[in-house]
Amino acid sequence: MSRYLIFILAYCLGAIPFAYLAGLFKGIDVRQHGSGNIGTTNAFRLLGVKLGIMVLLGDFMKGALSAYLGLWAFGPWGGIIGGLLAMASHSWNPFFGFRPSGKGVAAGFGIITILMWKVTLIAISVFILVVWLTRYVSMGSVTGALTVLIMVFVFPEPFEYRVFAVVAVLAVLVLHRANIQRVLNGTEHRFGTKK
Ligand code: G3P
Repeated sequence: MSRYLIFILAYCLGAIPFAYLAGLFKGIDVRQHGSGNIGTTNAFRLLGVKLGIMVLLGDFMKGALSAYLGLWAFGPWGGIIGGLLAMASHSWNPFFGFRPSGKGVAAGFGIITILMWKVTLIAISVFILVVWLTRYVSMGSVTGALTVLIMVFVFPEPFEYRVFAVVAVLAVLVLHRANIQRVLNGTEHRFGTKK
C-alpha cells in the first residue's frame, strides 16, 4: 500500500462533520442555528455539554490522527501536510459544497498537540484564560492562534512547523472574520448564554 494514501485518509478524516452528525441525534441542523458553524463551539451551544464534548473529541482526534499518520510516514513535512489536509476539509467541507464549515480550532489543537506539545500547552492556557475572562470562545481561539504563531518562533521548532503555524493561523483568523466583527459590534455570542 502506498504511504501517500495517508494523505487521502487525512483529508477524509477532516471531512467528517462531527458537529453536524451530532446534531442529527437531536434533530437540529447546526448550520441553521447559533453561529451556523459546523464546529465544536456551536455544538456545545446547540446540543449541550455531552454531545459538545463528543464533538470536541472527534474534531481534536481527526486533526491529531492526521498529523500523527503523516509524521509517522514522512516525518515533519508529512505531519504538516496531513494536518493541513485535515484542516482544509474540516473548514471547507466537501460534503457541504466547500463553503466555510468549521473554524479549525479543535482540529488545529489536535494537530499541534502531536507536532509541538509545549507550544500547545501555552496556547491552550491562553485560550482558556481569554474565554474565562471574556466569555467569547472566538476571542480565545484568535488569541490562542496568535500565541501559536509567536511561540513557534520562540521555541526551537523545526522550519516545517513554523510554515504550518503561519498557514494554519492565517486560516483561523480568516475564518473568524465574522466573529471579530460581531465582537466589535457587541453582538457576538457569549459562552454559557443563549444570546
Ligand atoms: O472555534 C470556533 C470558535 O472560535 C467560534 O465558534 O460557533 O462561535 O463561531 P462560533
